[in-house]
This record gives sequence, C-alpha cells and structure tokens, in this order.
Amino acid sequence: MAGRLEGKIALITGAASGIGLGAVELFVAEGACVVAADMQDEKGAMLERRFPDRVRYIHCNVTQEADIARAVALADSQFGGLDILFNNAGHGGSTTGVADMDADGWDATFALLVKGPAMGMKHAVPLMLKRGGGSIINTASIAGLQAGFGPLAYSSAKCAVIHMSRCAAAELSPQRIRVNAICPGLIATSIFGASMGLSREVADQMAARVAEMGGKVQPIPKAGAPDDIARAALYLASDDSVFVTGTHIVVDGGITIGGRSSWDPTAGSPFLEALGISAEQAAEMRAAMAAAKAG
Ligand SMILES: NC(=O)c1ccc[n+]([C@@H]2O[C@H](COP(=O)([O-])OP(=O)(O)OC[C@H]3O[C@@H](n4cnc5c(N)ncnc54)[C@H](O)[C@@H]3O)[C@@H](O)[C@H]2O)c1
Repeated sequence: MAGRLEGKIALITGAASGIGLGAVELFVAEGACVVAADMQDEKGAMLERRFPDRVRYIHCNVTQEADIARAVALADSQFGGLDILFNNAGHGGSTTGVADMDADGWDATFALLVKGPAMGMKHAVPLMLKRGGGSIINTASIAGLQAGFGPLAYSSAKCAVIHMSRCAAAELSPQRIRVNAICPGLIATSIFGASMGLSREVADQMAARVAEMGGKVQPIPKAGAPDDIARAALYLASDDSVFVTGTHIVVDGGITIGGRSSWDPTAGSPFLEALGISAEQAAEMRAAMAAAKAG
C-alpha cells in the first residue's frame, strides 16, 4: 500500500530530537523525502546515515532568516520542491515573569518560537505555489491556550503561533496552501532539561524520566510520546486533511479538559474544599445517599 506522503517533500525544523525526530521517522515511513533542520549536527548526521536516500540534514538556526532560506533551498535542490513545512524547533525560552521580565530573553523567545515559523512560511510559500499548494504545520502548545503550562514568554509566543497560523491560513488557503497548528500537551522529550540549561545528554536522560511519570498528569493514563504528535502532523501534512485549515489540534491526553478534580476521583474538588468537606467525607455522603435511595 502506498504511504500517505508518497512523493511529498517535507522540511522539518527541530528535527534532531523529540517531536521533530518522531516526525522525520513517520514521514519517511509514509514515503516522504525530508530536509531535517536543526543545530544538533551529530544527531542530524545520524539521521542521514539512517535514511540515506530520503533525508538530508542541514545546520539551521531558525532565528536566522538566511539559515531558513538555505534549508528551503536544499529541499528544492535535493528533492525538487517543497510540499510540507513543519515549523517545530523550540525551547522553553525566558523563564522570567511580569515583574522581573528580561527584555532580551523575551525577544530571543519570540525570535525562536514566532519569527522562526513566520520566516519558514515566507520562504516555503514560493516553492509550494510552484507545486500547486502545500501544508504548513506550526508546533504551538497547550501553553498557548491556558495559563500554567509554561513560562510567560513561551506561553505568549505559543498563543501567537496559534493565531499566526489562523491569519496565514486566511491569506494562503485560496492558493491551496493550508496552515494549521498543533498544541501538544506534556510530551516526554528533552525540552525540559534543555530549557533548564542542562547538557543535551542529561536532558535526553530527563526525557526518559518524564516518560515514566507522564502517565499520571492527565486523564489518559499514558505518557505523551513524540509519535503522538507526529501522527497529528502526518494527518495535517497528508491529503486526509485537505479541507482543514486555520485551526489547531490539541493532542494532550485530555489535560486541558478541566482541573484534576474533573478526572481524578482522589483529588479534592475546589468547591467541596470551599465548603469545608474533604474528599473522604464527600465519598461517605455519596455512599449514604446511594444507600438511602436503594433502601
Ligand atoms: N515536549 C513537550 O511537552 C511540548 C509541549 C508543547 C509544545 N512543545 C513544542 O514542541 C516543539 C518540539 O519540542 P520537543 O519537545 O520535541 O523538544 P526537543 O528539545 O526534544 O526538540 C527540540 C529541537 O529543536 C532544536 N532547536 C532548538 N532551538 C533551535 C534553533 N534556534 N534552530 C533550530 N533548531 C533548534 C533542538 O536542537 C532540538 O533538536 C517545540 O516547539 C516545543 O515548544 C513541546
């Protein structure tokens, strides 16, 4: 059976690790040729060795427009065009809040998470137009939807990515270029360690720890994995989503459904807490009411 991306050419940023790496593996398995862009050159070289006919790695700092232009040009020179852009490179960015905001950190966070994808779109569009259309996928985050899932600058930038995807979709959809965002929940990758400034090696080890604990933080009792996001990206990249544009897909195991008390019976409800009723007392009251009803 033909792959869902047979004959397609993709550029994936942040391709050496985590979600980007998962997307490279899945897109190649589904028949695509991929330009893998990142700054971790050893891991990039390894990708080329794993997929010699299908993957070209390029050192690309997405905060630099010239680097992005070179990555897009590589898709054209190596594979003959571009159909899919997965703007995915990222990092936790500046950790300061409102009161201690660091202006340079704020700028650097937005350069990476918002300007990078914007420049990616700018350079990808002319090649996509030559192919009669394309699909742009921007990695946002649930931090862009709700407070409390990331630092201030990161969360604001990811919210901007969601809206930028919508606005770009409005502009580009008449030319058959679809633009959508994905909002991952907690996914077991190296980003947590990398964002704390730890070495990549240690950050990679931390990803394994997140994978162990990650099944406990949301209603679906399994840790989020890069492949969970890669599969959403595959849907948006493929013709399965030919009528989908200007939207965002939340892939978070249900963590944004509601507060913990909405899905974890052992967690106390804030309303009962306000009434001074403990979780145990509430359970006893429910049992007593059920018994009264039955008898
Ligand atoms: N892991 C999560 O829980 C989670 C949740 C929501 C959103 N995200 C987003 O998913 C995306 C991928 O992150 P991940 O979790 O796979 O992390 P990761 O650290 O495993 O991968 C991120 C990759 O981006 C690369 N990168 C960082 N800065 C770059 C730059 N300036 N230019 C080019 N490449 C750069 C890194 O080298 C790394 O390979 C990010 O945009 C992140 O914000 C992750």
